[in-house]
Amino acid sequence: MTDRLIIFDTTLRDGEQSPGASMTKDEKVRIAKALERMRVDIIEAGFPIASPGDFAAVQAVATAVKESRVCGLARALDTDIDRAGEALKTAVAPRIHTFIATSPIHMQKKLRMEPDQVVAQAVRAVKRARQFTDDVEFSPEDAGRSDPDFLCRILEAVIDAGAGTLNIPDTVGYAMPEQFGALIRQLRERIPNADKAVFSVHCHNDLGLAVANSLAAVANGARQVECTINGLGERAGNAALEEIVMAVRTREDYFKCNTNLDTTQIVPASRLVAGITGFAVQPNKAIVGVNAFAHESGIHQDGVLKSRETYEIMHAEDVGWSANRMVLGKHSGRNAFRTRLQELGVSFVTEEELNDAFGRFKDLADKKHEIYDDDLQALVTDANLEAGNERVKLLTLRVCSETGETPEAHLTLWFDGGEHGAQAQGGGPVDASYRAIESVVKSGATLLLYSVNNITTGTDAQGEVTVRLEKGGRIVNGQGADTDIVIASAKAYVNAVNKIIAPAAKAHPQV
Ligand code: KIV
Ligand code: ZN
Repeated sequence: MTDRLIIFDTTLRDGEQSPGASMTKDEKVRIAKALERMRVDIIEAGFPIASPGDFAAVQAVATAVKESRVCGLARALDTDIDRAGEALKTAVAPRIHTFIATSPIHMQKKLRMEPDQVVAQAVRAVKRARQFTDDVEFSPEDAGRSDPDFLCRILEAVIDAGAGTLNIPDTVGYAMPEQFGALIRQLRERIPNADKAVFSVHCHNDLGLAVANSLAAVANGARQVECTINGLGERAGNAALEEIVMAVRTREDYFKCNTNLDTTQIVPASRLVAGITGFAVQPNKAIVGVNAFAHESGIHQDGVLKSRETYEIMHAEDVGWSANRMVLGKHSGRNAFRTRLQELGVSFVTEEELNDAFGRFKDLADKKHEIYDDDLQALVTDANLEAGNERVKLLTLRVCSETGETPEAHLTLWFDGGEHGAQAQGGGPVDASYRAIESVVKSGATLLLYSVNNITTGTDAQGEVTVRLEKGGRIVNGQGADTDIVIASAKAYVNAVNKIIAPAAKAHPQV
């Protein structure tokens, strides 16, 4: 008998709390649609009270997603809960996730509240959330360091108040698998009304144990796991969705449960999240790293050729690794273009959007003969990035680079409503371009990271550039793609600069 394991994805909320991983409303909707295609059960879309932008993003995801539940996070405060309820009004299946800290250190130092007050506030919050929806989740923050007796007390009270899901977070990534599994078992056995709720876990990866702890909890009866694509999340991240899902699928014999996910959507979703956030996936990352299914040694290759099962416990195509198909070329028409993008999950709202994307495709096809799925994804991401660049846009760029000469960049930028020309010299063409952009924008930001990846193979491949900027402790990422990597680099810098000069009044849920 196999139970259902509920997958709760928090890429758009906890994932976005990774420094530099902030996403725009449209990017969040694209990711949410990819998660919906994957049949993720619940999508945590954000923390609506954090800022008007977060509120609008949760609202947009709630409206766009029809098949998955959409969840909003709220501290155990009336104002937070009302804001979450408001943001989720259009959702087909809304969930409010409310939380309050329960560990001695958090209650004494952060909340400065007595345990009795914490219980009362949790109960009040759950009851208030139930006025907006029947689906309420409660988390005792820092449960991994909380007293199990106190956890039993508060959890029994919130079930009585109407919470249907109890999420046990290891907020600081402190737990050990055996101990965490035993905690889940103990809570399920000791709380008198435990059968009225689903037990969930939310593990952070500070000691590299987020997935192991989550799976230990599943083996001890947890039936919801909170996770993120590529393990994105606060500090060292959260449990990686792809690892949890494939572990229970591959070892259903052990876990006696499985998910409802379409696992073939895992790699496309991983690439989408990596592209949007600029958090590249390490090559040896389980499931979604480019080497995850590559067999290098002769002995392994020989074994796999004779029988795949000798060295493969999963099939690459089951998680969405497919040969990078050459889909379109210079002579492909608008219909073929639109159809292929629809197959990749990208649809255009207006004819104007389609025409704009098709124009970009034709420009790319002039420079590159074979256009692959990844090129199309990059093209759409790039168009979305440019559309989101509110104050600064790159209009033209010319760079001169010659042996024995100092590289020089000449460019025109659109900045705060007017055109500005600039030129600068630098150590290389990219450095010269960045100096020219800074001479106009004067962001004063520090460049923390500059990286280039080729999207497909071949010397005519598009380069995808990520830059990370820091100013006053705030970190942002920017991306750009082009067959010319200097232009891709300038686009990425402009994208990051737009973010760093934008006002950032956003509250953090746990501070
Ligand atoms: O890590 C954590 O405790 C959280 C809670 C808000 C669930 O993210
Ligand atoms: Zn968290």
